[in-house]
Amino acid sequence: MIKELETVLSKVGETLGYDIPFKVIVSNRPELCDFQCDDAFKLAKIAHKNPLAIGEEIANALKAIPDFSSYFENVEFVKPGFINMTVNDIFINRHLEKMLVEENFGIERPSRTDLYILDYGGPNIAKPLHVGHMRTAIVGESIKRMIRYMGHKTIADVHLGDYGLQIGQVIYGILELGKPISSITLADLEEIYPRISGLCKENEEVKNKCAEITKQLQEGNEEYQKLFKIILQISGDDIKRLYKYLDVSFDLWQGESDSYPYIEKTEAYLKDFIKESEGAKIIEVEEDGNALPPLLFQKSNGAYLYATTDLATIYDRMQKYNPDHILYVVDNRQSLHFKQVFHVCKKSGLTKDTELEFLGYGTVNGTDGKPFKTRSGDAPKLEDLFKEIGELFISKKEENKEMPTEDVDKVVNSILKFADLQNSRERDYIFDIAKFGDVTGKTGPYMLYTYLRIQKILEKESIKKELNDTIYGEVDRNLRLKLLELSSSLETAFKERKPSVLADYIYHIAVLANNFYQSNHIIGLEDKEKKDSWITVLYLTNHILKEMLYLLGIEIPTFM
Ligand code: ARG
Repeated sequence: MIKELETVLSKVGETLGYDIPFKVIVSNRPELCDFQCDDAFKLAKIAHKNPLAIGEEIANALKAIPDFSSYFENVEFVKPGFINMTVNDIFINRHLEKMLVEENFGIERPSRTDLYILDYGGPNIAKPLHVGHMRTAIVGESIKRMIRYMGHKTIADVHLGDYGLQIGQVIYGILELGKPISSITLADLEEIYPRISGLCKENEEVKNKCAEITKQLQEGNEEYQKLFKIILQISGDDIKRLYKYLDVSFDLWQGESDSYPYIEKTEAYLKDFIKESEGAKIIEVEEDGNALPPLLFQKSNGAYLYATTDLATIYDRMQKYNPDHILYVVDNRQSLHFKQVFHVCKKSGLTKDTELEFLGYGTVNGTDGKPFKTRSGDAPKLEDLFKEIGELFISKKEENKEMPTEDVDKVVNSILKFADLQNSRERDYIFDIAKFGDVTGKTGPYMLYTYLRIQKILEKESIKKELNDTIYGEVDRNLRLKLLELSSSLETAFKERKPSVLADYIYHIAVLANNFYQSNHIIGLEDKEKKDSWITVLYLTNHILKEMLYLLGIEIPTFM
């Protein structure tokens, strides 16, 4: 819809000799106009003229186009160089009708379908999943859904942390317990890991032993490999269960360990860049001409590291899939690691034209401003968090006790996800269970509640996928205009890899829609034409809400 206005302006510009693609934005002064164009300033620089003169010239030419009335109510030039546009009802309704009948609301298909590999989740085997692991899963899943919605292909890889020191520690713990392999349980793993990792901090001998086990495991020691497979199985099942709860899914369940077969080839590929330093193998790295700490490829004792497995994984992904993009949704604190890895990929040509993107995210804090903890203590396991939120929601209202478990789970998901995804991903945010669980405010339950209320109105009505030429008042107009912003919001969210843009957009729709049906008594309306029109607007509103909530990973319960 904005594109159509841009085309009109560009054509007018062309006749005046201003040969640039004009840009139109949603007005940041909605009380003055709907859309604005600030390109007079840009043109003034190019043409060495006064923006005032150019702006006025364009505005006047725009007012004189023969089909002015199929777009505009009013066009106005405002000093020192703004062109303010107010569109008319015909224009708005024509575009809404397109959204009603076309697939995916008529959002443009890409001219080329790209393949994206998304690396998110990244849980570490044998360590319980906690709140810190939630963001990558929620944000990554949403980015994946957005990319698909925009018409591209995706492969999601969980990239398990399965070959780190923690495995050596857990294997050490299992051997020390002396339990037969077949009787090891998840509870054993959950007990062993914190105990042995604590012990390693105090006891140098145990620490060295665990490191040795890790190294031998990586070199293929049979006994350790056998134990590793069991740990992987038990812990992997648990991880899958938690992701299922969050409705987060992966196409590939690869881990660091799966990259080991490619290390040799990766090393051969990078041989011109690898240097010896104090017995270790390193690769020098820089950023904008400044040296960064070198990437450690192999330790002096022969062990491989985190960066090695990431490089070998990229080698493997390039061979198998040759993707156009690889996206990493990982904690901000790993930004240096990815700078190192990406630099090596680019300078060695390992990734050719493939774009590598680090999509960092911030920390989830509690109301005390420190990393989030649950009521129960200092190791906030994800499962406990799900339970706590569910219980809090049920305790809010007597009716909630009647809700089926699947519906409660959907509400819990909406609380967690909307709380998270409304924040720009790279920022830290404060997770306040009471606030985010409320049915009012910028929360998941508010979004669900809005949808269900509208659905209730629509239930008994027949829906027409067409509109007359009229808009009935300001509240109605504000909602319709907002619906038209869908494609530009989605586009921004997709380009910036930011579900927060989408969350913010649908929140505003929900606010306007609530206002709309509260101030208009639609059901009992006598005026048939008006009623049909309003029902159609509400239908489109809910269709947008549902699809966009899906892109955020949020499903709608049957009732609330
Ligand atoms: N397992 C890692 C961690 O917990 C995250 C993995 C991120 N992905 C990657 N390809 N390095 O820190």
